[in-house]
Amino acid sequence: MSADSAPGEVLGRAHRMSVGGKLSFRKRVPPVEVRGKLPIVVGGDDPPPLADLIPTGFGKVEIEVGSGKGAYLVAATEVRPDTFFIGIEAAGSYATFAADRLVEAGRTNAVLLVDNARLYLEDRVPERSIDRLHVYFPDPWPKRRHRGRRFFTEDAPRLAHRVLRPGGHLLVATDNPGYAGQIARVLGASPLLVRDENEERALIEAGPGHAFSPTNFERKYIAEGRIIRRFAFRTVSEAGA
Ligand SMILES: C[S@@+](CC[C@H](N)C(=O)[O-])C[C@H]1O[C@@H](n2cnc3c(N)ncnc32)[C@H](O)[C@@H]1O
Repeated sequence: MSADSAPGEVLGRAHRMSVGGKLSFRKRVPPVEVRGKLPIVVGGDDPPPLADLIPTGFGKVEIEVGSGKGAYLVAATEVRPDTFFIGIEAAGSYATFAADRLVEAGRTNAVLLVDNARLYLEDRVPERSIDRLHVYFPDPWPKRRHRGRRFFTEDAPRLAHRVLRPGGHLLVATDNPGYAGQIARVLGASPLLVRDENEERALIEAGPGHAFSPTNFERKYIAEGRIIRRFAFRTVSEAGA
């Protein structure tokens, strides 16, 4: 948090309109009705840099992209109280819901940011500044004309590698077989990341809140009998170590 803003204070409501001359997805971020002092920041046209979202005293920082109604954040903040979590969620109503859940649970080690996570990771998160990046059940955007909105496009390895500290992990879960294939192909083909199956097993065994689980969509898809694919990719240094 910046010195002159209390946790939960809304920092801005305008919308960043365009990137590279094109209308960006950021423009679609709707106004948010904020009740009371919730741990939520509306990015708007000029979102605060990452450092302004993190209170002092936290050694580790993790970001969840598309945190939805916040089930993962509520669990993760409990099992890792020394880590600060930022949930970046484009839908203001979901972000508000998640912030409410964090307050109800008495958590003070997380904040919701209403923004387009792809833009935020690109222009507000410094290089090598976060320990883990979580992306659970990202929208598959099934219509061909919306495919560019997928998080895991060809650019995703560079984006993840840019923000993760050396040896940091990108953690992903999806029920969508086609999108899982794209994720495995795009991330697996990059020299910047390496799949870490030992870490996948260890994190699944570690239980809820460590990675992958629980999320609202996971619960729904498990109940429907869908197969969930989970991936952990570790960053590789430029030298290949
Ligand atoms: C299918 S839901 C999954 C929510 C949650 N991770 C879960 O598993 O329950 C995808 C979420 O990602 C959000 N989202 C989609 N694109 C986004 C983006 N570019 N930046 C931030 N959030 C995004 C959507 O608003 C939605 O809440």
